[in-house]
Amino acid sequence: MLKVNNISKSYGRIKALDDISFEVGKGDFVFIIGPSGAGKTTLLNLILRKFLPTKGEILLDGEDITQIPDSEIPQLRQKIGVVFQDFKVLPQRTVRENVEVALAVKGVSEDEWQKRVDQVLELVGLRDRADLFPSQLSGGELQRVSLARALAVDPDIILADEPTGNLDWETADEIVELFEKVNKDGKTIIMATHHKAIVDKLDKRIIELKKGKTEELPETETKGKKKKKKKSKKEKEEEKE
Ligand SMILES: Nc1ncnc2c1ncn2[C@@H]1O[C@H](COP(=O)(O)OP(=O)(O)OP(=O)(O)O)[C@@H](O)[C@H]1O
Ligand SMILES: [Mg+2]
Repeated sequence: MLKVNNISKSYGRIKALDDISFEVGKGDFVFIIGPSGAGKTTLLNLILRKFLPTKGEILLDGEDITQIPDSEIPQLRQKIGVVFQDFKVLPQRTVRENVEVALAVKGVSEDEWQKRVDQVLELVGLRDRADLFPSQLSGGELQRVSLARALAVDPDIILADEPTGNLDWETADEIVELFEKVNKDGKTIIMATHHKAIVDKLDKRIIELKKGKTEELPETETKGKKKKKKKSKKEKEEEKE
């Protein structure tokens, strides 16, 4: 469904991405990992057509989104739901209204949209919080609102940029479980994260960005890495003793 072919992105002299290629199939759950500055956000923004790459193509369902006219960008964004680290909910609107705003953009009839709002709020476990304002919610709940809003228009893909970055470990775990549920319902998920424990726990495909280059980590290799890391930690402790 998504093919990233030889993508490079430079900001002036800064090479954020350097000849990146990978494919994501329908229904996949893929982690994008890599240190700060590796290009994760840049990559997600390119898929959203926030800006154009310096080189390369991005095929979504066979169509090169780097070539579409600006007038088609809203249509493209209907196919892609986005979740950010800082939630980006509208503070003056209730939970329900935050989700409704996403649907208003799509132009769904009012009857249908009430049904849809209830459905997604149920899915993320916020039915009983529908009339509260963001200031009355916890971080985990805010991220649920943000996911509900992303899901409202029934996109094919959810792009998540550090969705657990502002959450404590337990809440992060719950949010990731919710993403897993959404993935099981058939949505493709691409999640950029620093949260090593989550990546290790979920055992999904991992694309690692290193100084703008990709490295695909096969499952066995990640497991090997985990073991290696554990050992070196133990070694460190032994050194201390
Ligand atoms: N608008 C911009 N102008 C200039 N340089 C930029 C811009 N946006 C990003 N960069 C640079 O591109 C590189 C990749 O940035 P990006 O935000 O994609 O990294 P990231 O992997 O998302 O990092 P983090 O984990 O900290 O969010 C960095 O060196 C950054 O300084
Ligand atoms: Mg980032």
